[in-house]
Amino acid sequence: MAEFTLPANSRPSPGKTVPAPPGAKRVREFKIYRWNPDDGKTPGIDSFSLDLDQCGRMVLDALIKIKNEIDTTLTFRRSCREGVCGSCAMNIDGVNTLACIKAIDDIKGPVQIYPLPHLPVIKDLVSDLTHIFAQYRAIEPWLKTASPPPPDRELPQSVEERERLDGLWECILCFCCSTACPSYWWNGERYLGPAILLQAYRWIADSRDGATGERLDALEDPFRLYRCHTIMNCTNTCPKGLNPAKAIAEIKKLMVLRR
Ligand code: SF4
Ligand code: SF4
Ligand code: FES
Repeated sequence: MAEFTLPANSRPSPGKTVPAPPGAKRVREFKIYRWNPDDGKTPGIDSFSLDLDQCGRMVLDALIKIKNEIDTTLTFRRSCREGVCGSCAMNIDGVNTLACIKAIDDIKGPVQIYPLPHLPVIKDLVSDLTHIFAQYRAIEPWLKTASPPPPDRELPQSVEERERLDGLWECILCFCCSTACPSYWWNGERYLGPAILLQAYRWIADSRDGATGERLDALEDPFRLYRCHTIMNCTNTCPKGLNPAKAIAEIKKLMVLRR
């Protein structure tokens, strides 16, 4: 797993400490990054100790408990709570993952929770995804057929053609991979990063799509595609077990084959 350690001079300062309730037997500390753009303070780390006997199993359960019962200002995204919406992506115990499927018992010691690395922070654990979604729009993530689809039936695919999409369609756009990629950290303005490139390949690999040449043309650029240096952080961190590095390699292979 890709881990991240902040340099000492950029670590947020300690914030408030909330002890466990009296009589708690299974106590666990949660150290959570806090930053409010409206209060003029620098970022800090708040510490909340919970009784795990009174809390659900996942890190998201702990965050919801803290927000509901201790500090209503704690801000994070979540929706499905079962690993399909991608909203609760954050850095937990040094690894980008989904809070709703990360078991508290899988972490030893205090649970450290930060927003996804190298994205601007809107508040607390909420990252600004504006740029990355603009990059997603830029790859035109929809089916472009060569001729109009038949009005009275579906566009068929063979079993083999459909299987080519396995490992691609499951991507939930959580961006754990892109925010774990050193190339994306340093060149994110122009490099599309693993999540968006996996999505680009999802349409290139679709037998029904008639715009493969156009899609490859749009990626033929020193930055958009070729900043991937096969470091593999993306694949190691994907909470859905996907392999964005392989999707990127497949695009590069197609680039060579068409020359
Ligand atoms: S394999 Fe490529 S996309 Fe994945 S982390 Fe490495 S440089 Fe980034
Ligand atoms: S490839 Fe994995 S880590 Fe990357 S956005 Fe998709 S689901 Fe998230
Ligand atoms: S809340 Fe949907 S993936 Fe975690």
